[in-house]
Amino acid sequence: MTNNDPRQPVLRVTPGPGDINSNGHIFGGWVLSQMDIAAGIVAARRANGAVATVAIERMEFIAPIELRDLISVYAEVERVGRTSMAIRIEVVADRDRGDRQIKVTEGLFTFVALDEQHRPRAVDQPAA
Ligand SMILES: CC(C)(COP(=O)(O)OP(=O)(O)OC[C@H]1O[C@@H](n2cnc3c(N)ncnc32)[C@H](O)[C@@H]1OP(=O)(O)O)[C@@H](O)C(=O)NCCC(=O)NCCS
Repeated sequence: MTNNDPRQPVLRVTPGPGDINSNGHIFGGWVLSQMDIAAGIVAARRANGAVATVAIERMEFIAPIELRDLISVYAEVERVGRTSMAIRIEVVADRDRGDRQIKVTEGLFTFVALDEQHRPRAVDQPAA
């Protein structure tokens, strides 16, 4: 079976042997950082400039990630405030060389658009 998901992932990545925890699964912090990277790309595109993660509103570890999984990170803008954006993220693991797709995590991260002084900037205000 192939991955029939019509969405385009922001990232596709595989964990390495150094990312394994004592259960033999992948560290939660590893996948959280991949989610932060992907959501940051989407937020920076929307804000047309620099952004910073200000909060993790929600983070759910649904199923373990295994060493040979290929991870697809999907991210989209869910909400835009004055200077902040909520980015919804979903991570799907391709397992058994693509025979199985397993939703492993999802989250909602908040980013803030930044000006040159690293202070909040209106999302729709052009970056300097
Ligand atoms: C991001 C940062 C500049 C925001 O500064 P701040 O003084 O808290 O900004 P404000 O209080 O004006 O809030 C800015 C926006 O963020 C939102 N926000 C602030 N704290 C939040 C929180 N804990 N949860 C959700 N939203 C939050 C505010 O509601 C506001 O949104 P809006 O303008 O759309 O209404 C500052 O907190 C910071 O530098 N944090 C560290 C960022 C960082 O290092 N991230 C990790 C690496 S990227």
